[in-house]
Amino acid sequence: MSAELAAEFAKLAPWIFQFRIEGADYGGAISAIEDPRVDQFLRFAPEAATILELGALEGAHTFILAERPGVKRVLALEGREKNLRKARFVQKLLRARNADFAQANLEQAGLAAFGKFDAVFCSGLLYHLPEPWKLIEQLPAVAPRLFIWTHYASEEEAREVPKGLRGKIHGEGGPDEPLSGMSPTATWLTLESLRSVLTASGYQTVEIIDNEPAHPNGPAVTIGAVT
Ligand SMILES: C[S@@+](CC[C@H](N)C(=O)[O-])C[C@H]1O[C@@H](n2cnc3c(N)ncnc32)[C@H](O)[C@@H]1O
Repeated sequence: MSAELAAEFAKLAPWIFQFRIEGADYGGAISAIEDPRVDQFLRFAPEAATILELGALEGAHTFILAERPGVKRVLALEGREKNLRKARFVQKLLRARNADFAQANLEQAGLAAFGKFDAVFCSGLLYHLPEPWKLIEQLPAVAPRLFIWTHYASEEEAREVPKGLRGKIHGEGGPDEPLSGMSPTATWLTLESLRSVLTASGYQTVEIIDNEPAHPNGPAVTIGAVT
């Protein structure tokens, strides 16, 4: 490990994800290398050459996706300037030239401005949004394939939320918490409501790739949706 590089990482701390640079590990405690969601995504969208990633944090998934054969470009959107600074710092070290980062608040951003893609990688983001349906509604026009990993509300804890949907309100960690949403609360939809938003938005098929109702942080689902 290079002491100089470790000091550079320390200046940007805290880190969530771990990054391997020239054989040594820097950053946080979690490695994304073994994260099953990357392979699940690539099985779902094996021909995706252009990928839009939503809520990229420090870019851990971005760089893994960008280096896969056949992937020409990953555009990674992230709301927090501090997270983007870390992602761009690692990008330089890894020389990941086919990854781009842009700042956007996905509660409001018009995604059409970012262009069209083969697939969207949306992991860990939807359950941080107060109105997740507003983002989902935009996505069929952006890419024909949408991969989601998200927490959802169980039927027992759900109540009526806007648009005739069911879900629960979840408190977020605040602006200085790197993993949180940008607003004080988020809406966790039920799985049924999530499916109905996807279908109403224009996805013809909605496949449940994995469902973990007993996930320790709340029920979680992996979905592949195709227009
Ligand atoms: C729980 S982390 C997920 C990180 C990564 N995608 C993963 O799956 O491990 C949520 C990320 O989404 C970002 N985020 C949350 N709300 C956002 C919003 N409204 N607009 C843009 N980014 C947001 C957070 O800053 C954070 O980087």
